[in-house]
Amino acid sequence: MTKKELRQKAREIRDSIDTDSVILLSGIIQDKVCNHPWFERSKTVFVYVSAGNEVRTNDIIEKAIRTGKRVCVPRVIPRVKMEAVPISNPENDLQTGFFGILEPKPHLRPVSEKETDLVIVPGLVFDLNGFRIGYGGGYYDKYLAQLPDTCKTIGIAFEFQVVDELPAEAHDRNVMAVITEKRVIMPGTQGI
Ligand SMILES: Nc1ncnc2c1ncn2[C@@H]1O[C@H](COP(=O)(O)OP(=O)(O)O)[C@@H](O)[C@H]1O
Ligand SMILES: [Mg+2]
Repeated sequence: MTKKELRQKAREIRDSIDTDSVILLSGIIQDKVCNHPWFERSKTVFVYVSAGNEVRTNDIIEKAIRTGKRVCVPRVIPRVKMEAVPISNPENDLQTGFFGILEPKPHLRPVSEKETDLVIVPGLVFDLNGFRIGYGGGYYDKYLAQLPDTCKTIGIAFEFQVVDELPAEAHDRNVMAVITEKRVIMPGTQGI
C-alpha cells in the first residue's frame, strides 16, 4: 500500500473506535509518558492538543504544567510550518484554529525548536523503527528536522496503530520511542 492508502485506511479504523476505549487507552498511554524518565527530566515539552479519536494528551499537559515545566503546543501555519507556543493555562490560552483543532491564541509567541527537550508526536500509524504516517502535511517531519540532538521524541499511539514496517521517504523523520497501551518500542531493540 502507498502512504496515501495506508493513511486513509488507518484513519477509518481509528475513527471507528468508541470514545470509551479512546479515553481508557489514552489514560494508560498518558500515565506511561508521565512516568517516563524523558518526561520527568524535561523542562520544556512540546505536546499536541488531542482532537477526535487521537490519543488524548490532556493529562500530559496538566501534569507538565502542574510540575512546573514549560508546555508548548503546536500552531500550524498552513503550507509553511508548525511552531511551538508556550501556554500556561489550556482553558484561557487556546482557541479553535486550523482544521478545527485547538491552537494557542494569536498573541502568544512561539519559542525556538532549539529550546525543546521533549516532543510528543501524534501519528496515524507508527512502525518498529519509529517511522510514522501523519495527516500528510509533513509538519512534524519539518519540525523534527530542526531539533537539537539533545531533544527526545516520543510517538504515542494505540497498539492497533503499530505495524512492523512503513514505507519511509527521505524527508521522513522517525521518533526515538513509541509508547502504546501495551509496550514501549525503542527502535533498534525490537520492542520490550
Ligand atoms: N523537511 C521538509 N522540508 C520541506 N518539505 C517537507 C519536509 N518534510 C516533509 N515535507 C513535505 O511534506 C509532504 C508530506 O509529507 P508526508 O511524510 O507524506 O506526510 P506526513 O509525515 O504528514 O504523513 C512531503 O511530500 C513534503 O513535500
Ligand atoms: Mg512524513
